[in-house]
Amino acid sequence: MGRKFFVGGNWKCNGTSEEVKKIVSTLNAGEVPSQDVVEVVVSPPFVFLQLVKSSLRPEFHVAAQNCWVKKGGAFTGEVSAEMLVNLGIPWVILGHSERRLILNESNEFVGDKVAYALSKGLKVIACVGETLEQRESGSTMEVVAAQTKAIADKVSNWADVVLAYEPVWAIGTGKVASPAQAQEVHSELRKWLQANTSPEVAATTRIIYGGSVSGANCKELAAKPDVDGFLVGGASLKPEFIDIIKAAE
Ligand code: G3P
Repeated sequence: MGRKFFVGGNWKCNGTSEEVKKIVSTLNAGEVPSQDVVEVVVSPPFVFLQLVKSSLRPEFHVAAQNCWVKKGGAFTGEVSAEMLVNLGIPWVILGHSERRLILNESNEFVGDKVAYALSKGLKVIACVGETLEQRESGSTMEVVAAQTKAIADKVSNWADVVLAYEPVWAIGTGKVASPAQAQEVHSELRKWLQANTSPEVAATTRIIYGGSVSGANCKELAAKPDVDGFLVGGASLKPEFIDIIKAAE
């Protein structure tokens, strides 16, 4: 049972409506492998979700970049999982390191969010990853295992989860993890899933890499057996994203 290659584009807090239209038309015109070979999901800021969803080629899907941890109500500034479902948004990114580190989202909070979003029918791109300090002190696996455990503690059905390994030191720095470094962590994460969830979950869950992925480095990374795709930041705003989607071939 093969794991279908997955390429996500995380636009973060970027874009005007004019820029968004331009990116969408580039994506719509790009020649890419069929959806049997690669699943493509782009994640614009909330305010552009509808615009992108209504104009994007139908085989590409959209993701929100966050959602609230429980049912909506008196939570100013938040967007609930129910609202995303109501608008037909199929995916959400949760636990991105920018939210963990800048907005202090704890492992447990992210685990709760993942479980709640799944319970409402959303598919989740759940992010894990260590800081440079943690890598240098040799605690990479301990950190990503604790982040994954907080999700596994609350989630039993992993069919709608894609796990994104995004080392913080590689995000937006141009300092990409080497294919060997990515493979090492992905393979350890798969072993962790094998030991702590089930052999089936370990074999079928896609583990994608994020952190300075570009048209130039994607092929080499994609060749690694446990790299099942990418979560792309900066390069997902450029025509180069099409080349990254082609890394699936
Ligand atoms: O979620 C994607 C991400 O954090 C990687 O960003 O700009 O290094 O590709 P970037």
